[in-house]
Amino acid sequence: MKNFDVAIDGPSGAGKSSLARRCAAELGFLYVDTGAIYRTVGLAALRRGVDCKNEQAVAAILPELDIRMGYENGEQRMVLNGEDVSREIRMPEISMCASDVSAHAAVRDYLMEMQRKLARENRVIMDGRDIGTVVLPDAKLKIYLTASAEARAERRMKELFAKGVETDFNEVLQDIIRRDEQDMNREVAPLRQAEDAVLVDTTHIDFDQSFELLCSIIRQRMEAEA
Ligand code: DC
Repeated sequence: MKNFDVAIDGPSGAGKSSLARRCAAELGFLYVDTGAIYRTVGLAALRRGVDCKNEQAVAAILPELDIRMGYENGEQRMVLNGEDVSREIRMPEISMCASDVSAHAAVRDYLMEMQRKLARENRVIMDGRDIGTVVLPDAKLKIYLTASAEARAERRMKELFAKGVETDFNEVLQDIIRRDEQDMNREVAPLRQAEDAVLVDTTHIDFDQSFELLCSIIRQRMEAEA
């Protein structure tokens, strides 16, 4: 079933990436993290000293960017002008700039074909903010994965703590709320649940339960389509 694509959208910190990656490995899909592509543009802008909020300035650097995606041991890698930037794009200071650049139509148009091509050539589970609404409107299954802002902040704190970074809960929570607001209220391709998306709320279930739930929803739809 080559053209069975799954679109997963939702706010930051809902566990989309980790859950989608594991389900993709379990069910034989290619996992595509589209946030990583926006993060790569954000990193390029920051490195060039470009104001991420300035659409014209960001659009002007796009022709200089050669953004490629590859896979190494099943892990998605982002390559910017020949340099593997997969680690660097995860730095906290990149998050807000990624959100800023992703609000520009010029950036979204520029990255659209790259995402659609991946879906044409592979059976994908693709996650982002506008995958079910804009990038793959005909995806066979759309999922809107969310959790309360507090639950997402708590998980983010634990992740950071495990990496030896101590943070303030309110700071993490405010950061999440600010990014939600920006991603949901922008003019171009705002984050919203597609009408035909299945809502999965993980506020009260843990990672393993969320994983089982997500995989079972995908399996059921695949069986129904077979
Ligand atoms: O999923 P993430 O946190 O790595 O994404 C970083 C930013 O990129 C996020 O704030 C919104 C933006 N984004 C987007 O606008 N559309 C997507 N399909 C994926 C991410």
